[in-house]
Amino acid sequence: METIQLNIDNVFDFVRKESIYALAADAEKFNKALHEKTGKGNDFLGWVNLPSSISSAQLKDIKKVAENFKKKCEIVVVIGIGGSYLGAKAVIEALSDSFYMFQRNNEYPLVLFAGHNIAEDYLAELLNVLNNKKYGIVCISKSGTTTEPAIAFRILKEHLENKVGKKEAKDLIVAITDAQKGALRKLATQEGYKTFVIPDDVGGRFSVLTPVGLLPIAIAGFDIEKLIDGARSMEELTSPDKSFEDNPAAIYAATRYSLYKQGKKIEILANYHNKLVYVSEWWKQLYGESEGKENKGIFPASVTFTTDLHSMGQYIQEGERIIFETVLSITEPDNHLAIPFEKENLDGLNFLAYKRVDEVNKMAELGTLLAHVDGGVPNIVIEIPRLNEYYLGQLFYFFEKACGISGYLLGVNPFDQPGVEAYKNNMFALLKKPGYEAQAEILLNKLRK
Ligand code: PA5
Repeated sequence: METIQLNIDNVFDFVRKESIYALAADAEKFNKALHEKTGKGNDFLGWVNLPSSISSAQLKDIKKVAENFKKKCEIVVVIGIGGSYLGAKAVIEALSDSFYMFQRNNEYPLVLFAGHNIAEDYLAELLNVLNNKKYGIVCISKSGTTTEPAIAFRILKEHLENKVGKKEAKDLIVAITDAQKGALRKLATQEGYKTFVIPDDVGGRFSVLTPVGLLPIAIAGFDIEKLIDGARSMEELTSPDKSFEDNPAAIYAATRYSLYKQGKKIEILANYHNKLVYVSEWWKQLYGESEGKENKGIFPASVTFTTDLHSMGQYIQEGERIIFETVLSITEPDNHLAIPFEKENLDGLNFLAYKRVDEVNKMAELGTLLAHVDGGVPNIVIEIPRLNEYYLGQLFYFFEKACGISGYLLGVNPFDQPGVEAYKNNMFALLKKPGYEAQAEILLNKLRK
């Protein structure tokens, strides 16, 4: 099997190769610290060995539950937010037919998501769809207390129970949560739901290779063993006995850190296949939540080209020179489609006749890379041979490992997220949650001014 390839040749006009390689010893040391659990946040490093430690019995159990949903449901609603939804969403969007919503007679249940917002219209419209469908629910929350999924679950649980009866509903609900604590664990025990455990030492955004990602992906009909195989191969390729120059995750981490030190404070993850939009969303959470703290960190953004070349392209080419770009490049798409010849040639496109659409896309990609580098935007390329489970597994682990090393290079704890509490405290205070009275008073005074 091939591997995804990292190419940093197009950053050397901006940061010298020697400066990046000067970080080799630190990057190797931090990679070791991740494996030996000696760095900051070391109680959240369970993800490091997940690919090599997940057992075939665990995978079998996940596939069995997925099979059960397949037998009973047309739709499975996966409830979760942040790390409890983005990994599964990323894989399902990347590997599904772009128009799967319109396909009839699907072999696998349609996976829909909820609990990743508090939008009343979204939930009400979802219920309208579910009224006439056989459906099940997978509720995912590591803490078991997150407001968005808790609200969605309360609404959907009631809907399902009213529809099929409490006894039948119990067998159509699976909870993925902490082994002991949290409201979801308590509820699951009380109601007798099938459960899967999110390990204590795996944080939400690093949990795609646990049942959090694997169950929804298996329900949608994708091969979780291949996903794990890919991740396992990247675990080997980035192991602490690899030297810096042989470890793509270490090189990526050192390169982006060097660019950051040169004033490149925004990294845009660019793709040329819109199926990768949610891979970018997953990546943004991973890096944004891991690195954006202590007034430091690269701001992770994303674009889908060529679509966004007609909007954000202007800024990237000529706006503030604080951006670098990392391109997810798919070597070979699944389909072949050629541009037809037209006798009249009114649109002047006959120079493209008989060429594959992908050939045009690839030239757009190359042309953009050259233009952006000329315009002062350093460019990193990650070449992905094909869009399948195996290479996505590699990509996830690659980014996770690089994120750990990168956070340590930056000097932060990449495995906590203290900043996400601020909005929650205000929201609870404004909603008059018991215990938040003092904060409510402060906010009301502010609002009165
Ligand atoms: O990465 C994280 O830890 C967060 O984004 C969480 O995944 C997110 O807030 C959801 O948390 P929970 O699974 O506890 O509901």
